[in-house]
Amino acid sequence: MSNVELNIPNHVGIIMDGNGRWAKERNLPRSLGHKEGAENLRKLLPYIYDKGVRYVSIYAFSTENFERDINEVKYLMDLFTKHFENEYDEIIKRGVKVVFSGRREPLPESVLESMDKLMDATKDKQNGVLNVCLNYGSQFEIVDMVKKVSKLVLDGKININDIDKKIVEENMYHYLPPLDLVIRTSGELRCSNFLMYQSAYSEFYFPKTYFPDFDSKEFDLAIEEYNKRNRRFGKN
Ligand code: FPP
Repeated sequence: MSNVELNIPNHVGIIMDGNGRWAKERNLPRSLGHKEGAENLRKLLPYIYDKGVRYVSIYAFSTENFERDINEVKYLMDLFTKHFENEYDEIIKRGVKVVFSGRREPLPESVLESMDKLMDATKDKQNGVLNVCLNYGSQFEIVDMVKKVSKLVLDGKININDIDKKIVEENMYHYLPPLDLVIRTSGELRCSNFLMYQSAYSEFYFPKTYFPDFDSKEFDLAIEEYNKRNRRFGKN
């Protein structure tokens, strides 16, 4: 199907699940599943932007993922650092602005530095946005937003009756458009604390494919499925 006939979502979210199972099926350590997942992401992102999607949000690491085995957490942190430092040339070349959602604490200094460098290198770019959710949880985002908005009230910057949807959205980690499509790979049917406010009216797509195998063809299938949905936004 060519792009001309297709409605391309403005904002796509991806819950990159199944790296561990991908590795297990091949008798490989879980870490290799993550490595392959990261490599797949590097190849997939340029394809998604070329397709016409402007905003992509990815779930790289949840606040709850810190409960995993310490060696897996350490491996993932090193993988993030390596990728943010060396593997985002295509994204930078395409003029995509990279932002991060989540709490900085307790991310290691090396990861924070690589995030800051990537954010700084892309801060003026305007050909799309990559929102990397790292040490992210939607419930914490809402808690942090409530604190920011409360401070605005306490500091006399806004009146409590001024609080509306726009103020709430402006005080999330980033002021992003709503998600149109959320893809969770690996067949799990949960949102797992991923951008719950932003996905209020998004379409959900749950392919069985593990993330390391979720390639451009799989992404096209997701877009085809999205085009079959009848989005009513609560209207009839
Ligand atoms: C879930 O699979 C995946 C993660 C917790 C990590 C996601 C990270 C990547 C794909 C690497 C991304 C890299 C960058 C640079 C952003 P799982 O481990 O829960 O898999 P399982 O459910 O099969 O065990």
